[in-house]
Amino acid sequence: MQTKRICLDQAATSFPKPPVVAEAVLNYMTSNGSNVSRSSYKSAYEAEDTVLETRELLCTLFGWDDPACVIFTSGVTASLNWLIKGLPGDHVLVSSMEHNAVMRPLVQLQKSGVTFDRIPADENGQMDLSSLPGLVRDNTKALICTHASNVNGAVNPLERLGSFCKEQGLTFIVDTAQSAGRCPIDMKALSIDCLAFTGHKGLLGPQGTGGFIIRREPAEKMEPLMAGGTGSFSHTELIPEALPDRFEPGTPNLPGIFGLNAALKWILETGCGNIYAKEKALYDRLKEGLEATDGIRIIGCPEGDGRGMAPMPVLSVTTPGRDAALVSALLDEQASVQTRVGLHCAPSAHRTLGTFPEGTLRFSPGYFTAGEEIDICVEALQNVLKQIPLGI
Ligand code: ALA
Repeated sequence: MQTKRICLDQAATSFPKPPVVAEAVLNYMTSNGSNVSRSSYKSAYEAEDTVLETRELLCTLFGWDDPACVIFTSGVTASLNWLIKGLPGDHVLVSSMEHNAVMRPLVQLQKSGVTFDRIPADENGQMDLSSLPGLVRDNTKALICTHASNVNGAVNPLERLGSFCKEQGLTFIVDTAQSAGRCPIDMKALSIDCLAFTGHKGLLGPQGTGGFIIRREPAEKMEPLMAGGTGSFSHTELIPEALPDRFEPGTPNLPGIFGLNAALKWILETGCGNIYAKEKALYDRLKEGLEATDGIRIIGCPEGDGRGMAPMPVLSVTTPGRDAALVSALLDEQASVQTRVGLHCAPSAHRTLGTFPEGTLRFSPGYFTAGEEIDICVEALQNVLKQIPLGI
């Protein structure tokens, strides 16, 4: 019989989801099945209500007050591409812990003259805030940073970065791929101008969902990356000015948005603070188990954001003298423990942590991980390490 899988790869995508999520997707597919903003019959209005309600739920979750500023995309990569390519660039600052969802669009833009600087960080991935003023140039327009690293969970100090951006007149763009739904995030309190989110990780929704929330002022300056029918202002071939239509051409992912709607209600009922506390306990238990394991090196143990926010539940290790890919494969084969090995689409973060190009073996539990599953994982890791002779 197949052992129950222990998914410690929640940083890649969350599993399982609350059952209401699949039910809502199925309900849309088998019962509602209508488009939005286009047709005038009951089921279309019902779908429209759910989409609007989902924008409102996202506002509640992220401390925003204008649902029209919530734009749906296919995920955080699409959101970051919209924001990075759509907002005037010149020169931007990024953290040293960025994922390629930020770095690749930026490097692509270098061809059109955009330049960037990385804000240095220490070997734990913690940003050196003292270097920040010296990096701002006359043409610096934005600061883009991940909230939490997908390699070691290090959290960037959003509150202080937000105040700095406000003082300097920089647009503050935050990638919440690893933190949304896992800890409280308040856009206004943190002075975030644009918040990019994905639906399928901590928000516990379906893959293919996500979006961004954008303040009206940057939205007015942002060039849409795509154009097409919106079901509105159809008398003109110009892209509408109104939000969210301006940035939402084409039929949205409605089964996904229905699922995301159910997931968001579940998160708001459970409470982000409770989710954060449970996941922090899992992180601590895992860290303790890994610290007691011979033959590995824990990579970058950040302290938090300096304002009481602990790292997100992601821990990376190296296995000196042993092939981490083999360790990962045997963990799955022998104990159904699922991990992710390699560079995690984040070469910049690995360079910062000193693990480029070899990468790490990553463990990322989630809300539904049981404490005992962490213990099973640690025991399985210890057994696997004993089976692999050094030098393999
Ligand atoms: N960026 C995701 C991860 O860290 C897919 O695994």
